[in-house]
Amino acid sequence: MKQQFNSQLPTHLGIIMDGNGRWAKERNLPRIAGHREGMKRAKETVEAVARRGIAFLSLYVFSTENWKRPKSEVNFLMSLLRDSIYSEFDSLKNNNVRLVCSGRLAELPDNLADELNALVAATKDNTGLTLNLAINYGGRAEIIDATKKICQDVLAGKVEISQITEDLYARYLYQPELPPVDLIIRPSGEMRLSNFLLWQGAYAELVTLPTLWPDFSEADLDAALLEYGSRDRRFGGITE
Ligand code: IPE
Ligand code: IPE
Ligand code: MG
Repeated sequence: MKQQFNSQLPTHLGIIMDGNGRWAKERNLPRIAGHREGMKRAKETVEAVARRGIAFLSLYVFSTENWKRPKSEVNFLMSLLRDSIYSEFDSLKNNNVRLVCSGRLAELPDNLADELNALVAATKDNTGLTLNLAINYGGRAEIIDATKKICQDVLAGKVEISQITEDLYARYLYQPELPPVDLIIRPSGEMRLSNFLLWQGAYAELVTLPTLWPDFSEADLDAALLEYGSRDRRFGGITE
């Protein structure tokens, strides 16, 4: 049976899971310890978001710019991701979570893309929370990739240039069925998007908080949702 979603909440929530390195530094631990703890918060947050009846959750896992980091850190992040696919396989499958991925997955090392796609396939008929993992994701890269696909269809005679509208464009994004993102939460005190959901977030409400991601709690989530509920979303119009 299809789950009922609460309309007072954002339909689509995005989270920029930031501050793992600083969390570790504060404890004199290596950065990877922060990533390990951050992954635990990601798992808990997926459950908390699902329990609140939110329909779509996008988590920023790894950006197209994160390859600039030291190779050892990148390698650790990739192996952490692989371990999580294994450990969460049954849990996502059995908890009615539908996994989708956004990003240039083909550029991921080894067969990580295949492993992610296996989990996507295993959960495709689930009707609860849709979890969108942004991996090797960049908002600009997504727009470029969509533009290339549209150009191919124009050259193949499938699309007329005059037919290119915002609605048509959105159908060429990585996950066309994702609605616009309503709320983006960014912990760690940074007040920027860092290339996250640029198209989908055109009218997103932003909530930032000083807490570092490994310290993010259900109370932080609820505070952000409450803040979201108090915002006047005008979309360029005026409030009556
Ligand atoms: C977020 O934490 C995780 C990724 C970007 C992969 P950071 O690693 O960016 O942590 P800080 O910002 O250095 O504290
Ligand atoms: C954004 O965080 C990317 C992810 C959380 C995956 P960054 O730490 O990479 O962003 P900047 O460098 O502070 O903008
Ligand atoms: Mg960071």
